[in-house]
Formats: sequence, structure tokens, C-alpha cells
Amino acid sequence: MKPLISPSLLSADFAHLAKDIEMINQSDADWLHIDIMDGVFVPNISFGFPVLKYVAELSQKPLDVHLMIVEPQKFIPEVKALGAHIMNVHLEACTHLHRVIQQIREAGMKPAVTINPSTPVVLLQDIICDVDMVLLMSVNPGFGGQKFIRHTLEKVRQLRELISYSGSHALIEVDGGVNLETGKEIIDAGADVLVAGNAVFAAPDPMEMIRQLKAL
Ligand code: DX5
Ligand code: ZN
Repeated sequence: MKPLISPSLLSADFAHLAKDIEMINQSDADWLHIDIMDGVFVPNISFGFPVLKYVAELSQKPLDVHLMIVEPQKFIPEVKALGAHIMNVHLEACTHLHRVIQQIREAGMKPAVTINPSTPVVLLQDIICDVDMVLLMSVNPGFGGQKFIRHTLEKVRQLRELISYSGSHALIEVDGGVNLETGKEIIDAGADVLVAGNAVFAAPDPMEMIRQLKAL
């Protein structure tokens, strides 16, 4: 099966967001990845809901929303109002993760759980059957353009095993430092979805880069 590709808007040209969203609309991308940061959970701030309202209006691709914020459950109504397809929350940011996952599903979105590079896959054991996707961070979240952490490949293999023995249908998404080289290794290890920011938006021909990632 071809991987799903979710280009990350974080690396787009913020002075011309509409132009870059239109490029994504015309491309082979499957989703549009939206990184929301709060300057607390991660040491950076990206864009907030007033900007994302317009992003959501312009995007024809389903929104894959990644919240890098504390207490993400507070923003379920705002993410829902964007018309998001998937809402990713960090395990490290949710004391009552099971409840948050149920609340996201009750709101009519697909719940996904995200783990940082230092969080072991085994901690997903008791939530894996409740989520539609696991997002493995392959860099420390907060910034685009970082180097892929190679240990993620081992985590993809462990997660694939956990998914098959638990009978879960969760997809595996990988985010951070994904390019044509690392993307191939990630897919070979058993992932389903690639997030790519810098690799797409810094490419001479972003649409062609999305096509090549899709062909991995
Ligand atoms: C990082 C974000 C990523 C980021 C990936 O905190 O979660 O989605 O945009 O950017 P690249 O692909 O450039 O590593
Ligand atoms: Zn992300």
C-alpha cells in the first residue's frame, strides 16, 4: 500500500499561506498537517485558531491537527470547528489520556495519540485499541527542519508488533526529519503515514517532492 502523505504547514511561506495551501490542494498529498504550539509544552509558538480558520477554509485536504500544547482537551471544540479529520494529542500532555481520546471521538473526530522520542512504545499498550492513529515523533517537537532520530525506526517496528497482537487498526504516522531517504526506511519499518515539512517546502518543486514521497 502507498504511504499517506501529510505535508506540514509549519514549513510553508507564512506570507503566502493561501498559495502554499493551493499547491497542497493540487498535489498528491492525502492530508494537511497542522502544528499547534503553546510555548509551554514545546519551546515555540506557531499559529493559533484565528489564522487556522482561514487555513481550514482554503484547504481541500483533510486536516491532520497535531497539538503540542498542555491540556489539549480544552481545545476540542476549536479543533472540531476547523472541521479537523484527525486530532493528535500528546500522551505526555494528558494525565487522563483515555478520557481525552473518548472526548475527541465523541466530538466526531478521529483520535490519535502522539509520543515524543523519549517515550517508549510500551506505554501505548492500554490505549492502542482506542485510537485511530499513533504519531511517533522522530524529532523533539517544536521546530521544523531537524534531523531524523534513527531510533524511531525501531519504535515503528515495536509499534507494528503491538498493533498486530492487540488487534488494533491504528495507523502509524511519523513526524520529523522525513525526506526521501528517511521516508523509505520509515515505510520499510512498517509506518503508514509520513509528515514532511522542510522536505516538501524547501524542495525546488514541492508538488514533485510530494509525488516522490507518495511513490516510496
Ligand atoms: C515539529 C512538527 C513537525 C514539523 C516537521 O514539532 O511536529 O510537524 O513541521 O518538520 P520537518 O519535516 O521539517 O522535520
Ligand atoms: Zn507535527
